[in-house]
Amino acid sequence: MSNTIQKNLNYKKYVVSSKLQYFKLHSSKTEKTFAEEISSSLNHDSKFINPKFFYDKKGSDLFEKICSLPEYYLTRTEISILRKFQPELSSYIDENFRLVELGSGTSVKTRLILDVLTQLHDSVDYFPIDISEILTESSEELLKNYAGLHITGIIDTYEDGLEFLKNFDKKKNLIIFLGSSFGNFSPNDGFEFLQKINSTMKSGDLFLIGLDLIKDKQILESAYDDSQGVTAKFNLNILSRINAELDADFNLKNFSHLAIYNEEKQRIEMYLKSLVNQSVVVSKSNLLLNFKKDELIHTEHSHKYKLSQIHELLDSAGFQIKHTWLDDNKYFSLTLVSIKSDP
Ligand code: AVJ
Repeated sequence: MSNTIQKNLNYKKYVVSSKLQYFKLHSSKTEKTFAEEISSSLNHDSKFINPKFFYDKKGSDLFEKICSLPEYYLTRTEISILRKFQPELSSYIDENFRLVELGSGTSVKTRLILDVLTQLHDSVDYFPIDISEILTESSEELLKNYAGLHITGIIDTYEDGLEFLKNFDKKKNLIIFLGSSFGNFSPNDGFEFLQKINSTMKSGDLFLIGLDLIKDKQILESAYDDSQGVTAKFNLNILSRINAELDADFNLKNFSHLAIYNEEKQRIEMYLKSLVNQSVVVSKSNLLLNFKKDELIHTEHSHKYKLSQIHELLDSAGFQIKHTWLDDNKYFSLTLVSIKSDP
């Protein structure tokens, strides 16, 4: 308890206008820097780079491009499910819910949910939670389109942002976590994350999660290795970022993009493969790396699920399933849950 109060005091409130404010954590957190994380994750025989580092400006732009690629069915399919089930969704959120998004909503998906909420109530609150401060640009755009909208950004990790909200007021929350972003977690971390979300929810709150489903291996692999090579650029961009920010000398021509579906582990595994024997210096991480030809850097896991697994997972993390919506091909799922004590 005292811990929580202490934490709330650590947020600073910034008021941009009568409709836009945000809370930012006074960083007293002991988060590792990019240089430190890279220093420990590449200094191994099995090298990896955390996928959260994909999203610098260039990487975010490339990800936007990925979302509209013909092979990348995820975004398009999730949007079609939201469109089709807007009326059904509205029956679950007819009370005055606030929308809480894990990740900041630059996307049309946020709007599809806001459409439902703003049709039910004149005034709607939207609380995006994101570790980066890109909140403001997209917020201004949303405010132009929705007259009764009030935005409160929380700049923090998802878990701590939700904890902050738990102590903020008693209003009902509809928390959304879309795009199968959850798929980046390992099964263990994912389970703990869900339990954490569950522990911040009160009776009446709802959680909507979008998850990608298992399907034909070819379809999965081409979604992560498109014919235009955008995903390859996206993957390789992480090396450009390390070059620029950590004073490194990766030669991008000496690495290639690799995406394979691991059927046993039910995940797409993305790698950067060294095409030659080579050494690379990462100055700010104090590294001199030696790569053998064909050596891999693991950059991302993207887990895929069976519907029954999604239900088991959510159930064992303490949730009660309200409804799952699918597209006609059963490519993607949206599941709405509450905490278990609810009627
Ligand atoms: C944003 C994590 C959901 O795993 O499909 C897209 C990222 N990586 N193409 C995914 C990604 C390569 C995406 N997520």
